[in-house]
Amino acid sequence: MKHIVVLTGAGVSAESGFATFRDAGGLWEKYDVNDVASIEGWYRNRKLVLDFYNGLRKQLEAARPNAAHELIAGLEKDYKVDVITQNVDNLHERAGSTRVLHLHGELTKVRPENGIYDRTASEAEVVDIGYGSVGLGDLAPGGSQLRPHIVFFGEAVPNIEKAIGLVEKADILLIVGSSLQVYPAAGLYRYAPMDCPIFVIDPKPVPLSDPRVTFIQDVATRGMAEFVKALECK
Ligand code: OAD
Repeated sequence: MKHIVVLTGAGVSAESGFATFRDAGGLWEKYDVNDVASIEGWYRNRKLVLDFYNGLRKQLEAARPNAAHELIAGLEKDYKVDVITQNVDNLHERAGSTRVLHLHGELTKVRPENGIYDRTASEAEVVDIGYGSVGLGDLAPGGSQLRPHIVFFGEAVPNIEKAIGLVEKADILLIVGSSLQVYPAAGLYRYAPMDCPIFVIDPKPVPLSDPRVTFIQDVATRGMAEFVKALECK
């Protein structure tokens, strides 16, 4: 069975009503990324950060997977599929994808804070809170403040080695809805085998000059339909 590795970004969830980060009207136009998505921002104003992610969690509860998430999940009928996502939503899982690796954390989970040089939390410390809220003074069993299970800017990306291992074994790499501006995720495609075709679905041109790449310049739902059709013609 051929192995498809799918790398997704905010664009795959845009048609589910989730704002992307860097488009016009995107989240980083409304909020300062240094305030709500950096480790320094967390220690400057924990309440602001908690409220920001509490709000996103509520949005996620109301959101539904779109046809692009569903088409990605449907690939599992004929292929071994690994989804590597930069998204902190759970829309791939809710669409039925069974192997999803989150690079930047998960909105529905929290963990204890551990100081400015936050070490990676062990799985045992991570708590699933679903669509609930966390406030200042909500403590982990060890007594420290609970924080979002999100990789803030300034922190390591614990799952990057796993992601590299998956991309290295891909027969086909598909990238959907990412501006490829945030490293290390943006550099993952470089680990794909030399003979691995790479497909990029995005309505805007993505700055990726690699002879292996085929661009499908469209939104995720239509782009995924075109990708599936291209697979059927092979
Ligand atoms: P960006 O907001 O940087 O890029 C979103 C991409 O989606 C852009 O290339 C858009 O053109 C594209 N897009 C917009 N609408 C689309 C649609 N309907 N279908 C398909 N594509 C569409 O988001 P990411 O690349 O995911 O990190 O950003 C990477 C990281 O930066 C995020 O994980 C987040 C952010 O800061 C953290 O918060 C740690």
